[in-house]
Amino acid sequence: MNTHRYLFIAALAVVSVPAAELRLPDPLTTTNGTKVTSVEAWRHIRRPEILELFRTHVYGRMPLGRPDNLKFETLENTKGVMDGAATRKQVMISYRGPGGEGAIKLVLFVPGRVKPAPCFLLICNRGPTNIDPIRTVKSPFWPAEEIVARGYAAAAFLNADVDPDRHDGFTNGVHGLFDPPGVKRSPEAWGTLAAWAWGASRVMDYLVTDPDIDARRVAVIGHSRGGKTALWAGAEDERFAFVISNDSGCGGAALARRRPPKAETIAAITRSFPHWFCENYRRYNNREDDLPVDQHMLAALIAPRLLCIGSASEDLWADPEGEFLSGVEASRVYQLFGKDGLKADRQPPPGSPRQEGSIGYHLRAGQHGLTEYDWKCYLDFADRHLRNQKPTSEKPADPR
Ligand code: GCU
Repeated sequence: MNTHRYLFIAALAVVSVPAAELRLPDPLTTTNGTKVTSVEAWRHIRRPEILELFRTHVYGRMPLGRPDNLKFETLENTKGVMDGAATRKQVMISYRGPGGEGAIKLVLFVPGRVKPAPCFLLICNRGPTNIDPIRTVKSPFWPAEEIVARGYAAAAFLNADVDPDRHDGFTNGVHGLFDPPGVKRSPEAWGTLAAWAWGASRVMDYLVTDPDIDARRVAVIGHSRGGKTALWAGAEDERFAFVISNDSGCGGAALARRRPPKAETIAAITRSFPHWFCENYRRYNNREDDLPVDQHMLAALIAPRLLCIGSASEDLWADPEGEFLSGVEASRVYQLFGKDGLKADRQPPPGSPRQEGSIGYHLRAGQHGLTEYDWKCYLDFADRHLRNQKPTSEKPADPR
């Protein structure tokens, strides 16, 4: 190899692809090259097309929506917890498939003074103590007391209830329950992120039945692998009015084509976590430019609903700038709806959240994590945009 070529490759290895050279696929041009200039064309042509591309190439296709046998059993309904501020409910959400039975245990605190209450649903990927119903442990990962004090219901479930985070050949969790036994898996079959997102929708199925909750104002929030899941849940299920991606990185909010030196790539993530995605995704290992989508189009699938993207300054593995740029690029779809998306053309410094438009963004100083500061940003954003969204008596329809 000659020296010039070597230097060129070395330079590529330490510098991410500059924004102007990213050659991102256009959310507003259909696969056959037609420009999308109306909300109708977005809703009926381009949005379904992008959703299908993500199913086929990234997350896989869920084999079912709401199972006919879905059951809700209220295990607990205790008034006057949190020093009188809330009612605690625990609800078992169960379902059956050819492979047996499964269940999600939902923990829910409803504020006593706001009914029906808007709600934050956390997809918890950090173990049961972080969502302790008894509140012996009060983890900053789920500050339920603060959420309730702000007038929101705090709901949470464990991702592992839906599908354990282990690559076991898709035999455990909902894959084992619903995937047809003895049939070879398709390269487009759902991975574990899609399974968790499916679980979030089953929790939503319950929330629409609870008179204490205003199901038109439910936020779905997740951190890291949970943030990737929250985005996909919000894309698949438009009943979520607000989607929050905290440090979601590769396969979440971060643009795959950027490849900054310290960030996770498709090749790295499909090697370490092969079960998260559909099998097709690994075809794009080191071939990001061939993907017919990039992650700004996932953010665009949330439009015109509310979206918050949170990053941490030292979380280079998640590519904070790539997460920010997704929000910027998705904004054009919000504009089609006559809304501002993310009102910032430059990544704001740590501690200066941008919350004016329908897409919020903040960079927190520090490392990967879901902290009190992150929650404060999301609650502030909700106070500004979600709290006053008119509650209606009409329940949103199940999209499936
Ligand atoms: C790993 C993984 C990330 C993921 C993170 C998490 O670091 O590489 O993609 O976001 O775990 O879920 O905490």
